Amino acid sequence: MSAIESVLVENRVFPPQEAAVKAARISGMAAYEALCRQAEQDFQGFWAQQARDNVVWTRPFSRTLDESNAPFYKWFDDGELNASANCLDKHVGTPVENETAIVFEADDGTVTRVTYKELLARVGQFANALKAQGIRKGDRVIIYMPMTVEGVVAMQACARIGATHSVVFGGFSAKALNERIIDAGAVAVITANFQMRGGKELPLKAIVDDAIAMGGCTTLRTVLVYMRTPTACNMAAGRDKTFDEVLKGQSAECTPVSVGAEHPLFILYTSGSTGKPKGVQHSTGGYLLWAKLTMDWTFDIQPKDVFWCTADIGWITGHTYVAYGPLAAGATQVIFEGIPTWPDAGRFWQMIQKHKVTVFYTAPTAIRSLIKAAETDAKVHPRNWDLSSLRILGSVGEPINPEAWMWYHKNVGGERCPIVDTFWQTETGGHVITPLPGATPTVPGSCTLPLPGIMAAIVDETGKDLPNGAGGMLVIKRPWPSMIRTIWGDPERFKKSYFPEEMGGRTYLAGDGAVRSSDRGYFRITGRIDDVLNVSGHRLGTMEIESALVSKTDLVAEAAVVGRPDDLTGEAVCAFVVLKRPRPVGEEAKKIANELRNWVAKEIGPIAKPKDIRFGDNLPKTRSGKIMRRLLRSIAKGEAITQDTSTLENPAILEQLAEKN
Ligand code: WTA
Repeated sequence: MSAIESVLVENRVFPPQEAAVKAARISGMAAYEALCRQAEQDFQGFWAQQARDNVVWTRPFSRTLDESNAPFYKWFDDGELNASANCLDKHVGTPVENETAIVFEADDGTVTRVTYKELLARVGQFANALKAQGIRKGDRVIIYMPMTVEGVVAMQACARIGATHSVVFGGFSAKALNERIIDAGAVAVITANFQMRGGKELPLKAIVDDAIAMGGCTTLRTVLVYMRTPTACNMAAGRDKTFDEVLKGQSAECTPVSVGAEHPLFILYTSGSTGKPKGVQHSTGGYLLWAKLTMDWTFDIQPKDVFWCTADIGWITGHTYVAYGPLAAGATQVIFEGIPTWPDAGRFWQMIQKHKVTVFYTAPTAIRSLIKAAETDAKVHPRNWDLSSLRILGSVGEPINPEAWMWYHKNVGGERCPIVDTFWQTETGGHVITPLPGATPTVPGSCTLPLPGIMAAIVDETGKDLPNGAGGMLVIKRPWPSMIRTIWGDPERFKKSYFPEEMGGRTYLAGDGAVRSSDRGYFRITGRIDDVLNVSGHRLGTMEIESALVSKTDLVAEAAVVGRPDDLTGEAVCAFVVLKRPRPVGEEAKKIANELRNWVAKEIGPIAKPKDIRFGDNLPKTRSGKIMRRLLRSIAKGEAITQDTSTLENPAILEQLAEKN
């Protein structure tokens, strides 16, 4: 593992405007530094206070942090709470209860508003329906839903009865869904007949049927189907029921079930460095604290704010900053069903104007594609809309390049809105390194400084601290409340992946390379240092894609997958393939490449389709048979090979692999 990279020199600094500083909760750098000091001086006392101030406990905790079985850390573990009560019931009897919780804009532009009171009733009723289906505390429930109010209701209803949800992104294949149902031991799947995206009706329930037909889903008893569109779908008698059927006659009142702080609120599958996705398990207490706290710290959320996070609930960002955080903070949020480029690439800007969005949170990939669209079609440039309601902009999911940052700052933020470039991961539960909008001077391309209490550092392979300016591995040296608790069903993999022995077994290894600037000590993330790719902000394992390719046993003998930089998607998937037949060229190569792309889409999902597929008679290997991935990365980038190839068994194939299809 090595992440040494040249240090990009970025001299532009944008301090927050004075009025913003004055109005903010954490006002000015001195206030931020004071919080950091508090956390350093009395680590447990600091977190105990935050947990008391920000979470409603049904039973107060007496222990803050239990490190006796590190790295299986426990936070607030003798405390009890309910996550849904912390998002909904908490607001009953306060002015928030009659405020809008969700402004839902459907794909076709139809807008629906749901108040906190109404949302509580819908969640209560759905929770009762789940109970009537025999779903109980501790059961696992898969949610395979479009971006709709119903998706959030399903998540909240699971939390309300203490069932552990596992949301699977609606773009994943039947095979991926099947594996997750089996791994989680799910008793139910909550889905919709179809999803609407870009004016198209795309099947969801049919994919659930395929997933179950693949076999092995022995724990599964029930499939609940939200009829998003009037189009009928297959319904298996006894197993499948529509929302209408199960909600009928159910009361809207459902007492939230108190669970221990460490009770698994959810499992979310994400890619790692092996072929099998990891079920990242999160707690209830520590996670919820983080969702609420970061809404306050990073977005400085205020009663009049209209918050819009564009992430899908199938990703961690859609968990923390759609399904839980905004509700725990009592905010009004926009939920959008569709896609940013339909009916045209002005959709986001139009929606910001229409809903008077004040805090907007999206991914660099979306920004880059909207820049491209605005450059080719002036009609979709953000200047055509009134974006003056905006006060804070956010970025998440991948490094934001300084050019995109500047465009976002100028054309969306009107040079007035601070940009919070939030670094975090599925495993961290919420933001860990990010600017604070009323304190931190921002620098394009930098996620700046860790939140108070996050002991982030950059180290070498042995865990030794590196000086500013030197690139190395990003670690977090002390536990934090919302950290991953384990990998579902695989505690050994949890220890091995995140807490390497060489570093003492207690330091969290993020899997990213990073460098701190020499002047301010600001962090800049240089990208993954493991076998994880980040394509359009979506995590994909190279091994996952390789296993998918070689599982096409009639065609593929061997495959190696690497990432290469891409202007639009950040990284693109590049696959090198050896077939069980002579190396194809010309039209035949194109045809087979397409066949393989569709195969990967079927095995994992369309997001994993390799952009580039190259065929060779062999792969570049050392004499001991190891695939030289570094060489493949250079070939994928189109670089001249400068590495020493003398140890290569078969140098001639390099030329073959450089040929594009
Ligand atoms: C990357 C998404 C640079 C990083 C919340 C990380 C980022 C991976 C940033 C996690 C950022 C996320 N700057 N890189 N602001 N945010 N990343 O689990 O490589 O889907 O390890 O969580 O995305 O992706 P995940």
